[in-house]
Amino acid sequence: MEKYPIVAGNWKMHKTTTEGKSFVEETINMLLDIEKVTIIFGPPFTALFDLDVKTPFFLGAQNCHWESHGAFTGEISTDMLVDCGVHYVIIGHSERRHVFHESDDWINRKVHAVLNAGMTPILCIGEKLEDRESDNTQSVLSSQLIEGLKGIDSLENIVLAYEPVWAIGTGITASVGQVNDTHNVIRQELKVVFSDSESETVPILYGGSVNPGNATELISVDGVDGFLIGGASLTSEPFTEIARQVEQHMKEKS
Ligand code: PGA
Repeated sequence: MEKYPIVAGNWKMHKTTTEGKSFVEETINMLLDIEKVTIIFGPPFTALFDLDVKTPFFLGAQNCHWESHGAFTGEISTDMLVDCGVHYVIIGHSERRHVFHESDDWINRKVHAVLNAGMTPILCIGEKLEDRESDNTQSVLSSQLIEGLKGIDSLENIVLAYEPVWAIGTGITASVGQVNDTHNVIRQELKVVFSDSESETVPILYGGSVNPGNATELISVDGVDGFLIGGASLTSEPFTEIARQVEQHMKEKS
């Protein structure tokens, strides 16, 4: 099956169930003719319930626990997500890593749990500004990849998202050159563990202040297979406009 580029929205802690439902309906109605883009809505847990979406639209969760059930107050298991019709789970988002101090070990357990439940993890990696300024981007990304993907033998059902922490929610986007270089670095690092062909083809999304003003330029970067979008995924206009730019790019390519 052909893999289409992904436009994924991460709503973070925004939208009630009611708001989410009407947003999803409105957005789908605006994108009924989309053919070559996979579109993922990433609501908070409460708004995942009772959303009915069909290909090319999918539901993504923003987190999960690695155990299937048990005494884990405040957590949500992969079974619960599957039951809501979720296909993708964002794992290791920079806010989970840096605000909630999730370790690489936890992130790795979650990646396994998501795969075992038959869903696709969107594993987020990204360096902080101080890492980039001290020339440590490659080593940070390499260790996030190696630790996050420990014990995984194939990249077949994995999506990666490169999100430089300094570009998230700041309005500062990584430059085309930085994105191109970093996606190449990620693919090279993957080759240390995985086959060349999987490392070359695993979808790597870019995330960090993506908006309708930079989407066309960024989707044209070699090695960028779509976007993970925060702020611009919360209203239909920018989100659908980004999806249209990605679709247009695909049409021009074929
Ligand atoms: P942003 O967020 O698009 O608002 O920068 C991206 C993300 O956190 O995934």
